[in-house]
Amino acid sequence: MATTEPRIPQPVAETLVDAPSYADERIHDAYRWLRANEPLGVAQPEGYDPFWVVTRHADILEISRQNDLFHSGDKATTIVSAEGDARIRKMTGGSPHLVRSLVQMDAPDHPKYRVLTQAWFLPQNIRKLEERIREIARASVDKMMATDGQCDFVKEIALHYPLHVIMEIMGVPEGDEPRMLMLTQELFGAADPELNRQRERQQNADDVAALPGVLADFYQYFGKLSAARRENPQGDLASVIANSQIDGRPISEFEAMSYYVIVATAGHDTTSSTTAGAMRALAENPDQLAWVKEDLSRVPGLIEEAIRWTTPVKTFMRSATADAEIAGRAIAKDDWLMLCYASGNRDESVFDEPFRFRADRTPNKQLAFGYGAHVCLGQHLARMEMRILYEELLPRLKAVELNGEPRMSQAVFVNGLKTLPIAFEAA
Ligand code: HEM
Repeated sequence: MATTEPRIPQPVAETLVDAPSYADERIHDAYRWLRANEPLGVAQPEGYDPFWVVTRHADILEISRQNDLFHSGDKATTIVSAEGDARIRKMTGGSPHLVRSLVQMDAPDHPKYRVLTQAWFLPQNIRKLEERIREIARASVDKMMATDGQCDFVKEIALHYPLHVIMEIMGVPEGDEPRMLMLTQELFGAADPELNRQRERQQNADDVAALPGVLADFYQYFGKLSAARRENPQGDLASVIANSQIDGRPISEFEAMSYYVIVATAGHDTTSSTTAGAMRALAENPDQLAWVKEDLSRVPGLIEEAIRWTTPVKTFMRSATADAEIAGRAIAKDDWLMLCYASGNRDESVFDEPFRFRADRTPNKQLAFGYGAHVCLGQHLARMEMRILYEELLPRLKAVELNGEPRMSQAVFVNGLKTLPIAFEAA
């Protein structure tokens, strides 16, 4: 990377890798500054290799759609310090990845692996699940209504509902859900003192020391499930993955394990964060609650706005396979780029009043699911789950307000609410 590239001021660059800044508004202050002053510049926080920071909606889309020019798998796909990267490469014998899931692949492998489950996640297939998901949603609403009008919406509802849905889809028994939840939180919450495996403050936002242990636990669990489904296939997703063929040969154990891990983690944490983010927005904007309640056909708009508003996946990384020009900037082969989805979703040139929660936003061009070949596999499922929950919940909810301080997790990759104390009145 040339030293003449536009450099982002050091305090802003440091914010981009500071996990606590993602737990409050500081990351949005940094993004706002970047969009206005240096929408495509180079950051080099201390201890990190330099990377381009892509904060405008249009530039994020332009890079995301050019999957041959901007690879996902050549370098780390999530931001990591130079030391963390070296440690991972030492553990893996040179690869920057601890897992090899869709997210870390490029063509020609990526489409071969994606096609294995793609049809399964298409709207026409998941529509078949609607009734069952509605039953699960109703049970969650019943649980909320059975409290005395006060609950922690994250801990009691939002964490469990998408978890139950995706685990049932995968074929994981209900009794194992707490274990799956804990492992996911340890994976995504590695920098959060309350969520990581050591349950303590980490020196680096990307402390990787505990991750191999967390992954080993996942592999041990899914190894058994996979063997059982090979022997005795069922109608679940674990059976699809376990019995997949790549180039006419059974999928390798490592890649099957990586597949389970991505679905088992991405499949609920993000959706829980958005489900909770929607409730927070309604508690803080009673006019929006009233407006959506008036006509439940407005629920999809509420969900789309909650996805934009929360953008639980904050960043993904890409690297250039050749020299390229984006927005007048010369990107060199091998340069590393950070796509800042949460910034694209607050881009003033695309969204009117981007810092206001508006369920009536049409069109809503949110890009929280990414774009291009890696666009979220589970996007239709995520939308459907959340729509169903709120269709069931809103008719039974008269009013809701915050009943304490909501707190967000500290993480630079995937984050969301850790607690959301609410007081509500049933309808
Ligand atoms: C609100 C909820 C969700 C959000 C915001 C979200 C966000 C994202 C984003 C930004 C990507 C792009 C990765 C990249 O460009 O490298 C992605 C990919 C992916 N998501 Fe989601 N996701 C959500 C829900 C789900 C669900 C419910 C599943 C369930 C299976 C899921 C599974 C995946 C998988 C497997 C990929 C990798 C796709 C690929 O690389 O080809 N996600 N998601």
